[in-house]
Amino acid sequence: MELSKKATKISPSLTLAITAKAKQMKADGIDVIGFGAGEPDFNTPENIQKAAIKAIQEGLTRYTAASGIIELKDAIITKFKNDNNLSYGRNQIIVSTGAKQCLANVFKAILNPGDEVLVPVPYWVSYPELIKLSDGNPVFVNCKEENNFKYTVEDLEKALTVKTKAIIINSPNNPTGTIYNKQELIEIANFAQKHDLIIISDEIYEKLIYGNNTHISIASLNEDSYKRTIVINGVSKAYAMTGWRIGYAAGDEKIIKLMSNIQSHTTSNPNSIAQYASVEALNGDKTKVEEMILEFKKRREFMVKRVEEIGTLTCIKPDGAFYVMINIKSLIGKSFNGKNIVGSVDFSSLLLEEEKVAVIPGIAFGLDEYIRLSYATSLKNIEEGLSRIENFIKKLS
Ligand SMILES: Cc1ncc(COP(=O)(O)O)c(C=O)c1O
Repeated sequence: MELSKKATKISPSLTLAITAKAKQMKADGIDVIGFGAGEPDFNTPENIQKAAIKAIQEGLTRYTAASGIIELKDAIITKFKNDNNLSYGRNQIIVSTGAKQCLANVFKAILNPGDEVLVPVPYWVSYPELIKLSDGNPVFVNCKEENNFKYTVEDLEKALTVKTKAIIINSPNNPTGTIYNKQELIEIANFAQKHDLIIISDEIYEKLIYGNNTHISIASLNEDSYKRTIVINGVSKAYAMTGWRIGYAAGDEKIIKLMSNIQSHTTSNPNSIAQYASVEALNGDKTKVEEMILEFKKRREFMVKRVEEIGTLTCIKPDGAFYVMINIKSLIGKSFNGKNIVGSVDFSSLLLEEEKVAVIPGIAFGLDEYIRLSYATSLKNIEEGLSRIENFIKKLS
């Protein structure tokens, strides 16, 4: 029997696969250091946990409106006003089962077969597959390391065709941690306006910023960018709530309505208890979150310093998120025990086998001469893991 052609073209998530493999090795008693994690290694703060328990006890455990409860929409509206200087009405907000579902909904709402979406390389693993699932075509735009892995308008112009419908911007970025500044955002917004494109701005790492940078939402630049941008955000990364599965999107009322209709027939409302917990996340005390950010900052400093010490590796110091994209170009072509390292998958597999260190091969993000290390793990693990990587590199010939 022939199964769906579309579904069979979708690749499994390489990042989830590697994380699962490392977890299994750990469960088997092997001393693995995992740098694969795409989630904070902290517990959800207690005030948020308590809000969930209260919701259960009060019987707030039934279906809610498909696009989310009013209390959470209002908390999201306040968050946008306070943090991003953006004004939205309730009908411009949708709450979904993670930012990932918001993205899936938005592509379904805006794409017709053959429509193209500009995707930055390196990209977050799910963008291309989500676009394909909505019958669209991802068009990859290489963002060079020399340009801190950011789009240039020149590259965007080259990638444009009559079928281009939308552009994705992800700042702070996964996997590179780079942040677009105001001038760079203005250039992208002008490009989108010139070619009448929808901007999909994935701001899920907004709260995880270190140093002097600030997060600016492209939607907040001017009236035009406000109208053409769908902002994607959520509580997963900022509040250590990855398992609760709450994300949200804001933007044009017509697009949000279509997203809500789609969601109402696929998953109905996101989990009711998690929605009440998210109200507390957004409105409540943020002390724990601030402590988490300080800890990430320390780890970032340490990881970047150690990578530089190793010598053969280079990286750009990330401004946000919790990843370091490491350039392994100088190691491609070397070999270990007679096995050639042709790309990032060989490097990562041999490293896992030999030194029991799990990293994500850059090919998962469209760049084969890199690996991504997450610093959402303890300083002790980072120290030990990088020493093992250093050892591994010494063994290469
Ligand atoms: C860039 C980016 N966008 C979206 C998501 C999805 O987040 P959520 O857990 O809210 O679905 C992730 C998660 O890894 C991400 O890295």
